[in-house]
Amino acid sequence: MDKTGGTGGQLILGICGSLSARSINKGLLQAATSVLPDAVSFEWGDIASLPHFDPDLQESEGDPPSVTVLKHQIERCTAILIAAPEYNFGIPGVLKNAIDWASRPAPSVLERKAVGIVSASPALPGGVRGQLQLRQNLLYTNTYVLPQPQFAVGLSRNKFNPDGSVHDEKTLRKLADYMQTLIAWAGVVAQVGIWPGTKPDERHVF
Ligand SMILES: Cc1cc2nc3c(=O)[nH]c(=O)nc-3n(C[C@H](O)[C@H](O)[C@H](O)COP(=O)(O)O)c2cc1C
Repeated sequence: MDKTGGTGGQLILGICGSLSARSINKGLLQAATSVLPDAVSFEWGDIASLPHFDPDLQESEGDPPSVTVLKHQIERCTAILIAAPEYNFGIPGVLKNAIDWASRPAPSVLERKAVGIVSASPALPGGVRGQLQLRQNLLYTNTYVLPQPQFAVGLSRNKFNPDGSVHDEKTLRKLADYMQTLIAWAGVVAQVGIWPGTKPDERHVF
């Protein structure tokens, strides 16, 4: 569903790595919905309800319903926008857990999916170390993360309201540019098809 309640041809799936109600990273995703071109829809992915990843459970019972929903959302979307808080120089466990579920069985719904990563933090670097870890995870899954620009909002206390929403105009403008670039990137990814050397059946998947 897009910001106007309609549906467009292109769809961004927003996944937030924070479970906090006043999350500034959720605030970034919320802001993204307001700067998207009208023809582009936005949908929220729910990762809070996923159980801990358990390969034995997946093998014996298949995916839990919450995982199935998320996988369908990933399959359907044009691009995923992940807002990732930095926890201890890495990504929150709940986000890694979602990636682990989505990545199996391989080749997975994450294969050759266009992804944008954004983050916000009260610290100056804005969560870039967490972003790097996320890129590392998505390298294994052969997911096509937008290489540049990086979008990391530091010193969030000057740019976000106490409820997590963004009020800084420059951040909103940069986010609008970022979303345009992500949509263009999804177009590039769609053109690439199966790139030599990245065919799922030719990749070594453990
Ligand atoms: C467990 C934990 C670890 C954190 N580690 C980092 C960190 O490594 N780098 C950083 O910039 N901020 C760190 N922070 C601060 C978060 O960036 C800050 O709480 C931010 O608001 C979290 O994002 P959210 O508001 O979207 O939940 C940490 C916070 C928590 C709770």
